[in-house]
Amino acid sequence: MSEIFHLVYFSKAAEDLSYTDIREILEVSRRNNARLGITGLLIFRDGFFLQLLEGEQASVHKILGAIREDDRNYSVKVLIEASGQERLFAEWSMAFHDGDITTASSGHLVELFESVATSDLSKRALIMPILKKFRASAPELK
Ligand SMILES: Cc1cc2nc3c(=O)[nH]c(=O)nc-3n(C[C@H](O)[C@H](O)[C@H](O)COP(=O)(O)O)c2cc1C
Repeated sequence: MSEIFHLVYFSKAAEDLSYTDIREILEVSRRNNARLGITGLLIFRDGFFLQLLEGEQASVHKILGAIREDDRNYSVKVLIEASGQERLFAEWSMAFHDGDITTASSGHLVELFESVATSDLSKRALIMPILKKFRASAPELK
C-alpha cells in the first residue's frame, strides 16, 4: 500500500468572506480533489480555516500552492506534514465542518484550535490525534 501524505494548515479567512464564498470553495475543491485523489476536512471557526489535505505529496502541494495564492484567505501556516498508512477522511473529497455552530464534537474542536494557537510544540503534536477523535465522533459533516 502506498503511503498517504497528510498536510494540515491554518489560515485566516478574508474579512469579507461570506457563506457563498465557502460554498464555492467547497464546490471547486470537491471537483478538483476527486480528480487528484485528494481527501480531507475543512473546518471554519471564528474567522479561521483549518484544513487537512491527504493524498499524493505532489498533489497536496499543488493544491496548497493554489490556496496560498487565494485571497479568500491569508497568513497560511503549515502545521503538519507527515506520511501515514491510511486516510482519515477516505470517503470525503472535502468534508466541511462549521465550527461556529455548536455540536456534540465541539469539545474536540476547541481542543484542536487551542493546540493550533499555541507555540508549544508538544501541543501541536496533538493535532492529528485530535482530528482522529473528531472523525471518530462522527459529527454531521456536510
Ligand atoms: C480555505 C480554502 C481551502 C481551499 N481548499 C481547496 C481544496 O481542497 N482543493 C482545491 O482544489 N481548491 C481549494 N481551494 C481553492 C483554491 O484556492 C483555488 O481557488 C482552486 O483550487 C482553483 O481551482 P480551478 O483552477 O479549478 O478554478 C481552497 C481555497 C480556500 C480559501
